[in-house]
Amino acid sequence: MKKITAAITGVQGYVPETVLSNEELSKIVDTSDEWITSRTGIKERRIMKDGASSDMAAAAIKGLLEKMNIDPMEIELVICATVTPDYPFPSTANVICDKVGMKNAWGYDTIAACSGFIYALSTGAQFIETGRHKKVIVVGVDKMTSILDYQDRTTCVIFGDGAGAVLLEPNEEGNGVIDFILRSDGSGRQYLIQPAGGSALPPSHQTIDDRMHYVKQEGKAVFKFAVTNMAEVSAEIMEKNGLTSDDVDWLVPHQANLRIIDATADRMGLTKDKVMINIQKYGNTTAGTLPLCLWDYESQLKKGDTLILSAFGGGFTWGAVYLKWAY
Ligand code: UT7
Repeated sequence: MKKITAAITGVQGYVPETVLSNEELSKIVDTSDEWITSRTGIKERRIMKDGASSDMAAAAIKGLLEKMNIDPMEIELVICATVTPDYPFPSTANVICDKVGMKNAWGYDTIAACSGFIYALSTGAQFIETGRHKKVIVVGVDKMTSILDYQDRTTCVIFGDGAGAVLLEPNEEGNGVIDFILRSDGSGRQYLIQPAGGSALPPSHQTIDDRMHYVKQEGKAVFKFAVTNMAEVSAEIMEKNGLTSDDVDWLVPHQANLRIIDATADRMGLTKDKVMINIQKYGNTTAGTLPLCLWDYESQLKKGDTLILSAFGGGFTWGAVYLKWAY
């Protein structure tokens, strides 16, 4: 019997219509288009005015199923990567299944911040490889504006809202998820965190007065860890699988900062034309960045292409996925 791999057989993104440009942000906080562009590469981001993370995820999944002509009832499992769930519980996956009409599916959420999509993709792939499921949806979504402090110029300029979904199906041609390396180090949690609202610091008047329900980031510290670890793990997965830079067709990097992306591509020996970049349009959409890249570049991908997906995020969490494109 041939080995079954979990292949991405379709991808679809969703971003809200409202655009927030660097110029507009510079009227809200003390910043400038020049600072944001030169430090991060971001020119604008999308802002969700009404609705929740599940609405963006549901829009991406509905679009995916429509373009693939698949009935929502055929979906067996939905894994949702997010740090901005609709509620502490029930899970956002649960809500998404209801909104899309995936009544035969079960689902759950994965919290791994900006690494959420690769964590969810790697776990979703296991259900296909074992033969347990035939149709698994992995969606990365974040409504970062729901946890951004528009008085903090160090964080509010970086993030945006968006969602991207992929369908995983069994493949016997050797395409799909070939390998992954996933890491976590919880001792880095103080550098990038939403401190209040969980069981460690439940909501109170004090936590609200202290603005503790917003994203807090020590940018410089996170930058140092991100630039080293994202580059190292991407090089490691290449070495582990005997891949040279010539073998890699695409780097699909988490879109947090153009300088981190450049350093990762350099470490892998890749030229810029092999690197997916859309940070200028969407900013950092946390769990949404990687599927939104795949969506934007879908028309350029060819069957058999070698992709390395790579991410670093709060936790810390980081990792890389080696996959072969299936269509
Ligand atoms: O996605 C999850 C993982 N997250 C990341 O990978 C993010 C990693 N970190 C970064 O990308 C960068 O550290 C940032 C983009 C967040 C910041 O860039 P930086 O080059 O590290 O700047 P910095 O924090 O060292 O700040 C430099 C200066 C400071 O002023 P002083 O102290 O030199 O006078 C900041 O106060 O820039 C100031 N600054 C700003 N100025 C204008 C910070 N934010 C802004 C801003 N506009 N928005």
